[in-house]
Amino acid sequence: MSTSRLEELRRRHASAEAGGGPERTARQHAEGKLAARERIELLLDEGTFEETDKLVRHRCIDFGMRDQVIDGDGFITGYGYIHGRLVYVFAQDFTVFGGSLSETNAQKICKIMDLAMQTGAPVIGLNDSGGARIQEGVVSLGGYADIFLRNTLASGVVPQISAVLGPCAGGAVYSPAITDFIFMVQNTSYMFVTGPDVIRTVTHEEVTKEELGGAQTHNDTSGVAHFLAADDADCLRRIRKLLTYLPQNNLEEPPRRATADPADREDVALDTIVPEQSGQPYDVKDIIRHVVDDGDFFEVHERYARNIVTGFAHMDGRSVGIVANQPAHLAGCLDINSSTKGARFVRFCDAFNIPILTFEDVPGFLPGTAQEFGGIIRHGAKLLYAYAEATVPKITVITRKAYGGAYCVMGSKHIRTDVNFAYPTAEIAVMGAEGAVNIVFRRELAGAEDPEAARQQKIEEFKDRFASPFVAAERGFIDDVIEPRQTRPKLIGALRMLSTKVASNPRKKHGNIPL
Ligand code: HXC
Repeated sequence: MSTSRLEELRRRHASAEAGGGPERTARQHAEGKLAARERIELLLDEGTFEETDKLVRHRCIDFGMRDQVIDGDGFITGYGYIHGRLVYVFAQDFTVFGGSLSETNAQKICKIMDLAMQTGAPVIGLNDSGGARIQEGVVSLGGYADIFLRNTLASGVVPQISAVLGPCAGGAVYSPAITDFIFMVQNTSYMFVTGPDVIRTVTHEEVTKEELGGAQTHNDTSGVAHFLAADDADCLRRIRKLLTYLPQNNLEEPPRRATADPADREDVALDTIVPEQSGQPYDVKDIIRHVVDDGDFFEVHERYARNIVTGFAHMDGRSVGIVANQPAHLAGCLDINSSTKGARFVRFCDAFNIPILTFEDVPGFLPGTAQEFGGIIRHGAKLLYAYAEATVPKITVITRKAYGGAYCVMGSKHIRTDVNFAYPTAEIAVMGAEGAVNIVFRRELAGAEDPEAARQQKIEEFKDRFASPFVAAERGFIDDVIEPRQTRPKLIGALRMLSTKVASNPRKKHGNIPL
């Protein structure tokens, strides 16, 4: 082969690798961000990245673009391995036309997404972009729509993970939004549909980019993001960890891993985590950490709707999704945000064959006009729907309160939960003792000689009879009342028993979850 041909190949490779050049790369670093290729290197197992379409060029001739050509066109696409398992990846290179999306690099993304669907492997998008390539106009918009379609078709087929590592604005936000998980980085990433300038003009509100759509806003307030990372490296490390819980696609089981944590490990600490006083808060994550393999709990949506806890762990080396009411926040009440948070997590687990473990301690739905006007009926229904629809192994442990509609929703036996345990501290009833007595015995108490004494007596009677797990256990709604110290062996036993579970839903195009 002539050296000139090799030189041309090498020159084109070098052009692609240089991206927008050292100055723009230095600016990227000065802002605390890594360059696109550095990000891919950290994300993947060392030396495993195979780039696709490195030699692609844009076709735009308007606005002087004919003379501005960079091989690869600013998006780096390809595949590689994480913990030895195949993943597809794209990274927007902000140093090339601000990481903007051209017709050609939309095609690059679509190409790896199509491959991901055909080969059944996750797609990871590293976003850092000024949005649609302005010089290309509608051609670029069409490219976004092509990606949105693929995001939608891939949903529930292969895991899709987005890291937002810089700007992500306008309609461009909707690609990450359709994916399963969004990671954002403190101080360097932001997402919004319309930015501060437009908002100032239209609604006269003054808001900074960070306040409007920074990592903290979307983790704490909007719930758009699931993870808040300290910097790019932290973000990429946590994406690697997330993948250890996930199967490659919806036809596979999640990977099993070896653990030195004994399956039959009893833990006496669990006997005293739930307080004797039923109104006293405790941190349900203490229970989770004492139960799962090696105390390792990978929380999802940690900062949003803290009255429900969601996340992944391993039990006996098997991946599980955990949903738990959190008595330490809002007494563990279900509200709009916790319902949608829980529902989305349950549906992810169900789509990807991850068994669902529920720890229940819920006094009911949060009362108030804000909740009712906000549509708690519709949003609460999402959680119920998600649990009822799920066909993966489902196991529930009622640690304390299971009241009213919330009893039904949180993985009750009646909506096809396979194994239901309760602690002796469980209180399973239509409502709390005081409320129940005030309604049922209103007339009788009004006529009593000492109404307050009579009321207290009725409350005690009600508690004895109903605020316990035994009525439900007598009915078979609870399979077993267990000592808290036995939680881990009991759960692992149930998971082993359920490992060959087959269940399905009626044939349909799709259901109509109350969105
Ligand atoms: C082409 C772009 C670009 C874009 C940035 N650049 N955005 N080129 N199309 N959309 C280029 C700049 O010209 C500049 O080139 C380089 O990228 C870096 O941009 P700066 O402005 O210098 O960077 P910074 O100060 O960090 O500001 C970043 C930014 C700003 C906030 C993202 O660039 C910006 O506002 N861009 C436009 C954003 C936008 O309105 N996009 C369209 C949104 S609508 P040089 O050569 O000087 O380095 C949209 C719709 C999606 O995206 C549709 C989905 C349905």
